[in-house]
Amino acid sequence: MRIDIITVLPDMLAGFVNESILARAQKKGLAEICLHNLRDYTLDKWRRVDDYPYGGFAGMVMQCEPIDRCIAALKAERDYDEVIFTTPDGEQFDQSMANELSMKGNLIFLCGHYKGIDQRIRDHLITREISIGDFVLTGGELAAAAMADAIVRLLPGVISDEQSALSDSFQDNMLSAPIYTRPADYKGWRVPDILLSGNEAKIKDWEMEQSYERTKRLRPDLLKKK
Ligand code: ADE
Repeated sequence: MRIDIITVLPDMLAGFVNESILARAQKKGLAEICLHNLRDYTLDKWRRVDDYPYGGFAGMVMQCEPIDRCIAALKAERDYDEVIFTTPDGEQFDQSMANELSMKGNLIFLCGHYKGIDQRIRDHLITREISIGDFVLTGGELAAAAMADAIVRLLPGVISDEQSALSDSFQDNMLSAPIYTRPADYKGWRVPDILLSGNEAKIKDWEMEQSYERTKRLRPDLLKKK
């Protein structure tokens, strides 16, 4: 899979792309993450990519030209499954969307900034608008990074134990059961006896019960989605 991220802050994402699970996926040849500085695509001699909004509204707006030129340059090289704009007014990202996007071949993420982007880009070039939650970030970079992480870790082979991605919270709309490691008794804080019993069937039942109980208590909304 290939993910191209268009941003005015490539340095902010470079560390993340080269250190995290995304770095591991790239080293294994399972993903390619490419950062593009939007300012490299402006024809403005001051390298500006934003301008005042028509109508006298407050804030600055990202202009059509650099975004159009950057996306056109990428599309000239390969086909893309989605051109995604990260924005708080988009559809809500969740695990099922991560699953769906992890099955695509090539994705573009355009990180919004300032007041937003010229609506004509949204109308003509963006195929999907996605938010990571009901809050406003200063820019879309953290949203693109979060989504890229959630997507790439699902690619087969990225996480060593494939089961571990499948048993994540939210797969199947359930939170995970609690998890413990040695020692079995730490300062009198004991691991549940059932996990030390060696009875696989009972442990599986316990895990499902715990998962259901936590979901009901912490995220009852997820149970309604099932
Ligand atoms: N840009 C600013 N806030 C955002 C959010 N909540 N999700 C995605 N992109 C954003």
